[in-house]
Amino acid sequence: MTTGSTKPAYSVEEFVAYVQETIDSRGAVPEALDDIGSNLRRLVMEGGDLTTQGEPAENATGITGRWLHHVPGADFQLSVTYFPANHPTPVHSHYRWGVECVIAGHERFTVWEREDDPDSPGKTKLTVFSDGVMTRGDVRAWHDPPRNVHRQWAQGDEPVCLALLMGGDGARQHVFDLDAGTYEEAAPRPS
Ligand SMILES: [Fe+2]
Repeated sequence: MTTGSTKPAYSVEEFVAYVQETIDSRGAVPEALDDIGSNLRRLVMEGGDLTTQGEPAENATGITGRWLHHVPGADFQLSVTYFPANHPTPVHSHYRWGVECVIAGHERFTVWEREDDPDSPGKTKLTVFSDGVMTRGDVRAWHDPPRNVHRQWAQGDEPVCLALLMGGDGARQHVFDLDAGTYEEAAPRPS
């Protein structure tokens, strides 16, 4: 029997190197993000306990997560992030793409594609691109604009815990009002 200090079958360092190579060679096109998602799933399943790796990450979800790759100016950020039960995020966008894989819990995750009205700033039409409930090992992505709108919503009584890979610095761009079909600038915060 080996100990907990044994190197995992697939490490954060190996995954980060794979993501960098993929982004450099192919760009963040949907097919590349699919492949990155497959490897993110491998990291969740074979990377050891990700919730104890890296450094503590304070964020606005109310539950301290972990930074697994957090470098200023880097092409992407990797974290363990929690979303509390019964507190869906607002419908929001990020400037760049993202890929997530559930570590524990259940999450309804919805991605929309936006079609802004060039004649009416602040107005947009949102069309659902993907929607479903995810559990451990499930992977979904959002893409660069216009398919960069989404909502995370933990299901049940427990928080959902995600491995979350986000392009750029992961900053939010806009927050949307689904009923009104409007959006406004997001307050600066990740996830
Ligand atoms: Fe987000």
